Amino acid sequence: AENKLWGGRFKEGTNELVEEFTESVSYDKRLAPYDIAGSVAHVKMLEKQGILTSEEADKIIKGLNEILEEIERGEFKWKKELEDVHMNIEKRLTDKVGPVGGKLHTGRSRNDQVATDVRLYVRKEIKEILDLLKGLRRAFVKQAEENLGVIMPGYTHLQIAQPVLYSHHMLAYYQMFKRDAERFEDTLKRVNVSPLGSAALAGTSYPLDREFTAKLLGFSQVTRNSMDAVSDRDFVAETIFDCAMVMMHLSRLSEELILWSTQEFNFIELPDAFCTGSSIMPQKKNPDVSELTRGKTGRVYGDLVSILTTLKGLPLTYNRDLQEDKEPLFDAIDTVKIALKVNTLIVEGMKPKAERMRQQASKGFSLATDLADYLAKKGVPFREAHRIVGQLVAYCLDKGKDLSQLTVNEFKKFSDKFEEDVLDLMSLEGSVASRKVIGGTSPERVKEEIERIKEEEGF
Ligand code: ARG
Repeated sequence: AENKLWGGRFKEGTNELVEEFTESVSYDKRLAPYDIAGSVAHVKMLEKQGILTSEEADKIIKGLNEILEEIERGEFKWKKELEDVHMNIEKRLTDKVGPVGGKLHTGRSRNDQVATDVRLYVRKEIKEILDLLKGLRRAFVKQAEENLGVIMPGYTHLQIAQPVLYSHHMLAYYQMFKRDAERFEDTLKRVNVSPLGSAALAGTSYPLDREFTAKLLGFSQVTRNSMDAVSDRDFVAETIFDCAMVMMHLSRLSEELILWSTQEFNFIELPDAFCTGSSIMPQKKNPDVSELTRGKTGRVYGDLVSILTTLKGLPLTYNRDLQEDKEPLFDAIDTVKIALKVNTLIVEGMKPKAERMRQQASKGFSLATDLADYLAKKGVPFREAHRIVGQLVAYCLDKGKDLSQLTVNEFKKFSDKFEEDVLDLMSLEGSVASRKVIGGTSPERVKEEIERIKEEEGF
């Protein structure tokens, strides 16, 4: 047990299979820059408090900085028998600077150390995700702005319902990713709290200045209960949830893009660079990126269930189970980041097929609601108007006609409230333009909304 930093009380070496089973360095080594930043802050504070001499502190900090360079150059030798990123770095430090390296861990435990590292990592990643979300929102606004005249069918139950602007549809996605960003920003408030100084679970008898390390590390607060601080992984679960929500939104988008690029819909041309071919069918252009986005959403949901399940049975305070927080966290973050990147490029590159969308928008009696509203505005109770138009639709189905092909006389057979002007109503532009309510699809409103968003986002 001599080679272990905690080996003092042990008579026998660790079983090899146990080393293999308990190690985390193979994946937590990505926390190294945060681990070193946390250690440097801790040492500066120990010096300020007179717990370390300046000479000792300088030696340790110099050693830590050299280790960071070794890691960045890919020269650092990670050892599984040293369990995790923390002990790999601490061991290397004592090898480099001698016994003084052993003073680094004064007043600290791996329990508050790992909690600090993960918070610093999550903070950095959330900021990157926020930038990626903004880029994606920008792409939707650009699609909306560049295709303002395009009318498409809006659906409910995947049945043609009412005509809408393609731009309005794009801005619906804008809203989803805006909420996702707000969610991450809110999570960030609970992430950016320093657990350092909580030590193993009870705090420490050393006169540590927790506010000082928090400030050095850019945390906005310190945790208020040492037992909670070392065992709280709410912020991990929350972050994964936020990732899962983004994936769910990307998956809905993907499903629509997959549908829209079928020959049956034929609403959109996806950029070639984001589709793949078939090894047997030469004509194929498959929306694999969208399919994989939809597929990977399942993985991230798995990550969420994984962390929640890991946490549910844990007594206070730290338990080794908590080491299992990292792989789902890393996986969710890695997946959401690459998914946001590729999907932003898809949204930037996709081209709506305006003619085809328009053609489909007039199908399915999509102007039936406008007819019912027309009657209602002439005093017919809406329920009655609804019934009359329903009969008109049945009549059309019977005759194999569309509403737009009916004559005024045919209209009049169903209600004497119908007049010449009903024919003007039968246009997609008129229908869309009439939906002027706030949040509605009229071009007027959609343009205003684009302007409002550009102003707010600085696009
Ligand atoms: N690798 C451990 C983790 O990820 C670090 C903390 C270990 N603490 C302990 N008391 N064994 O949670």
